[in-house]
Amino acid sequence: MALIELKDVAKTYHIGDIAVDVLKGVDLSVEAGELLAIMGESGGGKSTLMNIVGFLDSPSGGGYKFEGKDAGHLDDDELARIRNQKIGFIFQQFNLLPRLTALENVMLPLVYRGMPYGQRLNTAKKVLERVGMAERMTHRPPELSGGQQQRVAIARALSGNPTLILADEPTGALDSHVSQEIMDLFLELNHNNKITTVMVTHDPNVGRQCRRTVRMTDGHLVEV
Ligand SMILES: Nc1ncnc2c1ncn2[C@@H]1O[C@H](COP(=O)(O)OP(=O)(O)OP(=O)(O)O)[C@@H](O)[C@H]1O
Ligand SMILES: [Mg+2]
Repeated sequence: MALIELKDVAKTYHIGDIAVDVLKGVDLSVEAGELLAIMGESGGGKSTLMNIVGFLDSPSGGGYKFEGKDAGHLDDDELARIRNQKIGFIFQQFNLLPRLTALENVMLPLVYRGMPYGQRLNTAKKVLERVGMAERMTHRPPELSGGQQQRVAIARALSGNPTLILADEPTGALDSHVSQEIMDLFLELNHNNKITTVMVTHDPNVGRQCRRTVRMTDGHLVEV
């Protein structure tokens, strides 16, 4: 059974009277343990697709199964539970809360799991160590470099022990050296921890290191 199964997924945005068909029938199957890169032109619908896969948005047509369950049949509570417990999101701009320390940023999503304080603290420390941020836990995002902020964001995504990591241009704001360090971390997490990873990237260097690449072209996905 595939972890992710998209069949003929469509997405149309309506802006006033104008309908924009962004996804025109996307088929995609991702097995557990895969590391997949999604590439393609700007405005092609990659983030739109990631939002659908991550249950942040719903398709206008077609079918989506996650772990064999039809997403269209899940209620809002079930969708929220999958988002919170199964999926870790990572974004280009890190999306950390600037007033909270690295440790507090990583602890925050665990509140929504009803985890007691001590356990949140231990879990957050462990994942921050895991991404090489043991020495910077009490720093706030503005006191960290871009690469360090992305490590904190990865730690936050890992804190919930996700089945799936969805990373939308995770190295897009980093220079090539730091970008490779972050890519090495993704490769290691995928290889050692078997975390299924779907990554959008514009960087051919990053794409090349993923075992499988698909390209978004004219509202469809094609294997590269
Ligand atoms: N909420 C929205 N409402 C209306 N149109 C939208 C919305 N979100 C995205 N779009 C449109 O959908 C198209 C695809 O956008 P999307 O962000 O998915 O592209 P992308 O492939 O991620 O591009 P980039 O590589 O620049 O990040 C664009 O034309 C965009 O303007
Ligand atoms: Mg995008």
